[in-house]
Amino acid sequence: MLGGTGKEGSGLALRWASAGHRIVIGSRAPERARETAAAINAQVGVERAEGADNLAAAASGEIVVLAVPFAAQLATLGEVKTALVGKILIDVTVPLMPPQVGRVQLPDGGSAVVRAQAMLGEGVRVVSAFQNVSAEHLKELGHAIDCDVLVCGDDREARAAAIALAQDAGMRAFHAGPLANSVVAEALTSVLITINRQYKVKHSGIAITGLPTEASDV
Ligand SMILES: NC(=O)c1ccc[n+]([C@@H]2O[C@H](COP(=O)([O-])OP(=O)(O)OC[C@H]3O[C@@H](n4cnc5c(N)ncnc54)[C@H](OP(=O)(O)O)[C@@H]3O)[C@@H](O)[C@H]2O)c1
Repeated sequence: MLGGTGKEGSGLALRWASAGHRIVIGSRAPERARETAAAINAQVGVERAEGADNLAAAASGEIVVLAVPFAAQLATLGEVKTALVGKILIDVTVPLMPPQVGRVQLPDGGSAVVRAQAMLGEGVRVVSAFQNVSAEHLKELGHAIDCDVLVCGDDREARAAAIALAQDAGMRAFHAGPLANSVVAEALTSVLITINRQYKVKHSGIAITGLPTEASDV
């Protein structure tokens, strides 16, 4: 989990650790990563998380997740690029451009995650997911997550892996098409931030309707 000391990354890591996955929290500062890992282990009650620098975390992960601010996305990927070859990268990045985070502001090329795939090349299977899931949903294990996950990517097997991880973390998740479709999930987050402000809530989300209740990955 690159950027695993942050709000979104630590929340996802907590959920996955609770589901039985082993997690390596990555950070620019390994000590900070170890603190986050210790807090996750304490909350889960089992030693499933450990801390490392981002490069070591990327090297040890079977599936690598990126959860850093948009401004740090490409620089962080540049540091770990060689360790990602042959792996799936799940990119959670939303192209928020403070201070106007409630306004959709897409980067050149239209999508932060498409930009990541272009930078990493074909040797890394990039998947876009979790952009609409507020960290507020993730931090308490007993809290049911009232938000679905759109999973976009050009490789079906990689999308399926991200869907399975979302389900392990307690969410419904859906194949939402090629990586180019990630723009929709990325843009939706600014809409949700605006809704949060307007209605004084912390975790508005999205729900996909019209499907059989048991179909979360059709
Ligand atoms: N928060 C949410 O509710 C939420 C929901 C959906 C999607 N997202 C997206 O998920 C990503 C992470 O969000 P977040 O709220 O978790 O962010 P965050 O807490 O502000 O930052 C996450 C981590 O990124 C690292 N980082 C921060 N600035 C950096 C920099 N300049 N260079 C390199 N690393 C840096 C930090 O780790 P170290 O200092 O330990 O290296 C930090 O703990 C963002 O793209 C965000 O848009 C967030």
